[in-house]
Amino acid sequence: MTILVTGGLGFIGTNFILGHLAAGGDRVVNLDLATYAGNYGNLAHLPPEKHLFVRGDVCDRGLADRLLAEHRPRAVAHLAAESHVDRSITGPESFVRTNILGTFTLLEATRAHWEGLPEPERAGFRFLYVSTDEVYGSLEPDAPPFTELSPCLPNSPYSASKAAGDHLARSYFRTYGLPVLVTHCSNNYGPYQFPEKFIPLMIINALAEKPLPVYGDGRQVRDWIHVEDHVRALSLVLDRGVPGETYNAGGLAECANIEVLGRICSILDLARPRQGGARHMDLAVHVTDRPGHDRRYAIDSAKLESELGFRPQYSFPDGLAATVEWYRTNPAWVESVTSGEYREWMRRQYRQEG
Ligand code: NAD
Ligand code: DAU
Repeated sequence: MTILVTGGLGFIGTNFILGHLAAGGDRVVNLDLATYAGNYGNLAHLPPEKHLFVRGDVCDRGLADRLLAEHRPRAVAHLAAESHVDRSITGPESFVRTNILGTFTLLEATRAHWEGLPEPERAGFRFLYVSTDEVYGSLEPDAPPFTELSPCLPNSPYSASKAAGDHLARSYFRTYGLPVLVTHCSNNYGPYQFPEKFIPLMIINALAEKPLPVYGDGRQVRDWIHVEDHVRALSLVLDRGVPGETYNAGGLAECANIEVLGRICSILDLARPRQGGARHMDLAVHVTDRPGHDRRYAIDSAKLESELGFRPQYSFPDGLAATVEWYRTNPAWVESVTSGEYREWMRRQYRQEG
């Protein structure tokens, strides 16, 4: 048996494939464009009979048709996306293309393939669309967490493009009966996250004694989930979720950015003290806020817990300590992904050397 994963060279895709194969899962065909965010080195050690990497674009209908016909996967797990909110603000076009047109293309190719499948393959087939809690917009400080019934109110070009994917996925279930599952997960952290995102950026800048750029007042709240918990949730939904349903996944760890940074700095103060007794937190600088910055996300995962038995296994303090240690002890990985493109992004975004 085979599953087709898109975006498998990225942060969550890599962890999903590693977790899936470690649990004895079936062979993976990994369709990924290998953009700046995709790193083949993450999975290069996997045997070819377990992992086939195909470099290509999810907007390429002919390629999707060929992969589905040739490999006859039992499921498609669609993770490929442009994923960084700040990049969607400075350049939204690639987000519209990959996240909307790419999702549409994959849904269309999958529908054509699925409609031609004989039973029981057809009944067992699944299409998992990996979406985000950002489609729900921003919460007031005392508002209850997002449920699957919260209104869709995206605020950035990134979240709007992901929400468009949600709507397309839903329509393919309602209109064509394609067995679609949708997940909305909160902020992930852990190994292999590209260091444009908050937690790895803060860790590698702190290790390099560079400024730690905090947007605005740093009081924005995110609900942090370790990526290994997220990929466990994805496997549960893929294996046991009900077609047509959506599932929220959160980490039970709401925390303001400035507090997350404080925790990272305290961990580093112990693990790698700075010279002269200075604190890593002294490197923090408040910079101009992100336009349209969502103030708070929080996720209610009660449905995933009651229906599929999901509970995050990492506490935030333990997961964060393990993540800091991973970045501290994997300088070669950090070096391999902080290419010229990365340095150029850092210069443009923060007006500093990357
Ligand atoms: P990422 O940016 O680390 O990885 C994205 C991957 O998609 C990369 O390997 C990239 O090469 C690939 N890709 C981009 N455009 C492509 C295209 N046109 N065709 C094929 N491949 C392409 O992203 P991530 O953080 O791993 O997120 C994966 C998915 O999970 C995304 O759909 C994202 O919206 C969703 N998500 C992320 C988070 C989070 O906190 N990171 C939380 C919830 C949901
Ligand atoms: O909620 C899920 C989403 O989480 C995913 O769908 C996105 O793909 C993922 O990128 C993430 O979006 P955020 O915008 O919440 O994550 P990011 O790591 O970019 O930022 C986290 C918070 O930290 C946010 O409030 C902005 C802030 N921040 C970020 C950066 C990069 C800073 O203060 N300084 C920074 O330099």
